[in-house]
Order: sequence, then C-alpha cells, then structure tokens
Amino acid sequence: MNYVLAPSILAADFGALREALRIAEEAGADCFHFDVMDGCFVPNISFGPALISTLRGASEAFFDVHMMVEQPERYLADIREAGADRITIHAEATRHLDRALNQIRELGASAGVALNPATPVSVIEQILPLVDMVLIMSVNPGFGGQKLIPYTLDKLRALSALRDRLGLPLNLGIDGGVAEGNLPEIVDSGANFIVAGSSVFRPQDKIGENVRGLLSILEKAGK
Ligand code: DX5
Ligand code: ZN
Repeated sequence: MNYVLAPSILAADFGALREALRIAEEAGADCFHFDVMDGCFVPNISFGPALISTLRGASEAFFDVHMMVEQPERYLADIREAGADRITIHAEATRHLDRALNQIRELGASAGVALNPATPVSVIEQILPLVDMVLIMSVNPGFGGQKLIPYTLDKLRALSALRDRLGLPLNLGIDGGVAEGNLPEIVDSGANFIVAGSSVFRPQDKIGENVRGLLSILEKAGK
C-alpha cells in the first residue's frame, strides 16, 4: 500500500502560500490538496483555477483538486488546465456522475469521487472502475479545523472490503479532522490517502515539523 500525505492548503496563510508549500515539500510532502468551494455546494467560497495555476509554477508535487462545486462539469477543463493531476468531484454534486468522471479521464487527469459523511458507499459501487480514489469526507465539507465524525471510519472499512472483493487498485482517501492522534486508527480503517489541513499548516511556524510527524506515522503503517 502506498501511503500519501496531502496537505490541504486551505489551512495555510494565503498571503504566504508559495513559502508554505516550499516548507512542506522540503519536509517530504509530495502532494497537495486544493479545496475548490463555490458557496453553493458548500457554505464557503475558497479559490479557483487561477490560484492552482499560480502555485503549479512553484511546485513539482502532485496536485489533488477536491471540487466542492455544484455541477462540476462546468469547470473540469479549467481545473485541468490550471495543473490538476487528479480531480475529485462529489457524487452529490452532479446528476451524471458517470459522464463527469469520464470527462475528467478524457482530459488526461486521474478521477476521484468524494462522499459526504451521510452518503452511503453503495451510491458509488458501480462507478468504482472509473476512479483511482474514493475520498471519504470525515467532516461536513466547507471548512477546515472541524472534528472527525467517527462513523465515517466505518465507511472506510466497508470500502476497503469492497475494494478487496472487486480487486480494484483503488486509493482510499480521508478528508477532515485528521491529526497525529487519530491517524493510526484512520490507517487501520483502510485509508492510504490522507488529507490534512490544520494539522499541517497550523501553527505556521511548525509546518515542517508537522509534515515530518504525520509522515513518520505513515511510514510505520507502510512497513
Ligand atoms: C473540508 C476540506 C478539507 C479541509 C480539511 O471541507 O475538504 O480538505 O481543508 O481541513 P482539516 O484537516 O483542518 O480538517
Ligand atoms: Zn478537501
């Protein structure tokens, strides 16, 4: 199992993003998570393709874009062009999930699907062959710094069993409320793609230390 830490830049100081990414990369992060929010699918507005494209020029890392956007079909090409390596859309945000996932693949990006806490895993069973990651939201999306909802770990366990049964090379992601304290249990539940915002970028002067702490837990899990 390949364990990946994906620092979510939502928790970083927007006035010093390049520097924050540089420090995280130097400490070993090779992936960043971008939370695109439209103020409609979620009650918050964050940033869009222009910011992703600016940072693309400053980083070699894998860019994982999480779209919390209604009808994400409208922006897939822009997000890809801005430099997304994977685009994850919510099953709840489109009427035509199969079509939208195929659109992402046609753009040459990896496709991911995200599920809100209350959405059951069964909703995505048929489209699993189209994605390389399922992102389980462990908080209600929209804001960083929330507490992980424990029952979402049951969904990871169910997905992990389903993946084994279907024999699919699927990454299992978790997003929201991840910290050093709960990471071992999260990994035990089957997650290998770990999004972490506040626990990486707060406090601002501990970014390197935070990345190294989380990565060392993942390294142990990989052995
Ligand atoms: C929540 C976002 C998350 C968020 C996680 O809507 O999708 O990626 O940045 O932040 P933390 O790790 O602080 O819960
Ligand atoms: Zn996210």
